Amino acid sequence: MTLKNRTALIIGGGAGLGRAIALAYAREGAKLAVADLTAATAQETLTLAGRTADGLALAMNIAQPAEIRAGIRAVTERFGSLDIMVNCAAICLVDPLLEVTPERWDQVFNVNARGAFFCMTAAAKVMLPKKFGRILTISTPATRLAVANFATYGASKAAVDSFTRSCAAAWAPYGITVNTIVPGRMTGGMVDALDRDLAKLTGQDLAALTASRTQSLPMQRRVDPAEVANAAVWLASDAAAYVTAERFNFTGGMELG
Ligand SMILES: NC(=O)c1ccc[n+]([C@@H]2O[C@H](COP(=O)([O-])OP(=O)(O)OC[C@H]3O[C@@H](n4cnc5c(N)ncnc54)[C@H](O)[C@@H]3O)[C@@H](O)[C@H]2O)c1
Repeated sequence: MTLKNRTALIIGGGAGLGRAIALAYAREGAKLAVADLTAATAQETLTLAGRTADGLALAMNIAQPAEIRAGIRAVTERFGSLDIMVNCAAICLVDPLLEVTPERWDQVFNVNARGAFFCMTAAAKVMLPKKFGRILTISTPATRLAVANFATYGASKAAVDSFTRSCAAAWAPYGITVNTIVPGRMTGGMVDALDRDLAKLTGQDLAALTASRTQSLPMQRRVDPAEVANAAVWLASDAAAYVTAERFNFTGGMELG
């Protein structure tokens, strides 16, 4: 068990990739806190992980900095430490460029960029005095590939790419590694909703659009979040102690060109 006795907080752990990472961390022996917009979905993850008795489920909206601070405080009060913080919480809004409003821009950035940043600094404040920590952010191929209609999402995640590296530089002397995982197009979760929104926007048949967005991938299949979770286990383990500031692609070659 590579994460035995480590305390891990998975934010956005009530669904999708966050849930898959929480389940993988539970298998690796980590003490588990799961946060999401509602405590109910976080609790469901703990139940699936067999951690109803000793896990911590938190309601946390990362668009609200005070909720982030309260959540981190609750984790340290419960477990006495915070060793690993993974932030999977994000939203993706499909908007034609000319229809992006300042409100829609702020909605995406307040979660994906500002929220992600303050999760990192709140966690680091606990980790710095202990001179140990693992922080994982989640980015997307959309920061490098031009994708029509979700510019706000790509731009907000480009900010994540950037401050992941800044934080890695700042905290490397303190034994804290900071890396970002880039999943390819995953099964379920956010991409299902995205396919529906894109089909509606472009007037395409949903099944045809979904099939074409799968067949166009180099591996001609979408990736299971459980596969991506393997990277999150390794990057949080002692084996990856000397790995920091990396943009770890789990995209099946999506960025090949
Ligand atoms: N799905 C993909 O194919 C894909 C590809 C590349 C990157 N990503 C990234 O992977 C991560 C996980 O994606 P997913 O498909 O599992 O998404 P998902 O929508 O299934 O899960 C995201 C979770 O975050 C939570 N969340 C949303 N806003 C929040 C907020 N303000 N505060 C707290 N929690 C909030 C949601 O309730 C949900 O449980 C995201 O960062 C996403 O940008 C996803």
